[in-house]
Amino acid sequence: MTTSRTRVLLHPDFTVGTVDRRLFGSFVEHLGRAVYTGIHEPGHPASDEHGFRRDVADLTRELGVTTVRYPGGNFVSNYRWEDAVGPVEQRKPFLDLAWRTVEPNLVGTDEFLQWAEREGIEPMMAVNLGTRGVEEAVALLEYCNGEAGTRWADLRIANGREEPYGVKLWCLGNEMDGPWQIGHKDAHEYGRLARNTGAAMKLVDPTIELVVCGSSSMQMETFGAWERTVLEHTYDVVDHVSMHAYYEEVDGDRASFLGSGTAMDRFIERVVASADAVGAQRRSDKKITVSFDEWNVWYLTTRFPGEENLPIQRDAPRIIEDVYSGLDAVVVGDLLVTLLNHADRVPVACLAQLVNVIAPIMTEPGGEAWRQPTFHPFATTARLAHGEALDLRVSTPAITTAAHGDVPSVTAAATLADGALALFLTNRSAEPVEVELAHLGASLDVAEGWTMTADHEAAVAGPEHARKVAAEHWGAFDVATRVATGDGTTTTVTLAPESWTALSGTLASPK
Ligand code: AHR
Repeated sequence: MTTSRTRVLLHPDFTVGTVDRRLFGSFVEHLGRAVYTGIHEPGHPASDEHGFRRDVADLTRELGVTTVRYPGGNFVSNYRWEDAVGPVEQRKPFLDLAWRTVEPNLVGTDEFLQWAEREGIEPMMAVNLGTRGVEEAVALLEYCNGEAGTRWADLRIANGREEPYGVKLWCLGNEMDGPWQIGHKDAHEYGRLARNTGAAMKLVDPTIELVVCGSSSMQMETFGAWERTVLEHTYDVVDHVSMHAYYEEVDGDRASFLGSGTAMDRFIERVVASADAVGAQRRSDKKITVSFDEWNVWYLTTRFPGEENLPIQRDAPRIIEDVYSGLDAVVVGDLLVTLLNHADRVPVACLAQLVNVIAPIMTEPGGEAWRQPTFHPFATTARLAHGEALDLRVSTPAITTAAHGDVPSVTAAATLADGALALFLTNRSAEPVEVELAHLGASLDVAEGWTMTADHEAAVAGPEHARKVAAEHWGAFDVATRVATGDGTTTTVTLAPESWTALSGTLASPK
C-alpha cells in the first residue's frame, strides 16, 4: 500500500554544478588496523612484492575511491614524517599519543604515495600543525614535490624515488579546534600558523590546493566563530575549508538517524555562509569551497570509549572497527545524496575511513577481505555519478524528528553526463513511497536499478553477517517491477520503506 505521494522535478537544463570526482575520496590514518593488516600486510597470501594487500586494493578499486587522505586524522598532529622515510630497518617506532599506539614506522610517505600511484588514487596529504610548524611542512612538500637539487628533494631521490610525486591536495593540520587534538590551538593561533604555513608551502609549489581546518563538527561550541576567525587569517592563501561529521543512531531514535543527511545539508549551508561572509567583508570574488574530508556513520558516543581511555597498545590493535547494518548503509547512501546536491561548493569529500577503522572494507589478518553493507551505496554512487549534478525540485511530506525537527521523507540527487542519467533516491519513511518523476518534456528512460533496504537486526561482526545483509537487503532489481512510464512527461518509481535506491538510464531534451 502506498501512503504518500512525492514529486521530483528534473530537467537537463537545470544544474547545480559539475561533480568533482574527488567527491569519492576516502581516508587512511595510522590508527588501529587501517594501515597494518589493512592496506599493508607483508606475508599475507594476497600481498604484492611491496607488502600491500592485493585483495584490499582490488576492493578499493571496486569501491571507486578516487582520492585518499593520509596519514591522519588525529595521528598527524604528533607525526614526524622524516622518521618514516629511508631504509625501513633503520626506522624507529614511536608512541603515537593520539591513539596511544606504538607506531612501527614501517609504512611512511614513500610507501603510501607509491601505493596510491599504483592504484590510480590521488593522494591528499596532511601536515602536522599540532606539535610542528612551517619548517617541517615545507620540508615535507619539498620532499614530495621538489625537483632534484634541494636537501629534501635529494633525500627522496636518495631513498629511491627520482620523480616528484606531484601531490596537489594538502591539509593544514587536522581538527585543530578540538581540545583532544595534540597541540590544540585557539582560532587566532591556528589561523596565523595555517596562514604562514600555507603561504610558505605555496612558495615551494604554487600549484597545490590547501585545506584549512574548519570545525570538527557542527556541535563544537566554537562552530561558526572558528570558521570566521580562521578564514579571516587565511582567506587569500587557502582553497578549501574542511568539514567533519559522523552520524549514529542514539537511543533507538531511528527517524533522527535516517534524517542525518538533512543535518549534513544544514551544516554545509552554514559553513558555506560563514566562508562567503568573510569573502563579502573582503569584497573578494574568490569562493572558498568545502573539503568534507571526514564523514561516515560512526557509533562514536555509544560504542567508542574515547581516546583517553584506550590502553597503550602495539601491533595494530583493533580500534573503532564498527560493524554496519543495512540501516547504516541507507544513511551512507543518503549522505552521498546530500554531497551531490552541493556539487557546486563541495569538490572534495572523504569517507572516513577506508579499511577496518569505521570502514566499508574489513580484513582479517592472514585471512579474507570483505565488504561491509555501507560499501554498496558508496561504490554504486561513485560508479554512476558523473558530469553535472542536476538542480532537482523535490516536494515530499515532512517527517518530524527529535534531533533535526522536520526533514524531507524522500531525498533525491541526480547527475547527467552526455545524456547518461544517474538518479539517487532515499525513502526515510517506514512506508513504501511512490515517487513521481516529472521531466518537463525531456525524455526519461530507466535501464537499471539497485536498492539497499534497512534491516532491523543487531549487527554481528564478520563476513558472514555482511554477506547475509547484502543478500537480503542489497541488490539490482528488475526496473519493470518498480518503474512505470507515464504519459511521456512523468515516470513513477516505487521505493521500499527505509531504503536507498540508485537508477541509471538516459535523460534527453526534446530535439
Ligand atoms: O576518523 C577517526 C578520527 O575522527 C580522526 O582521526 C579525527 O580527525 C576524527 O576525530
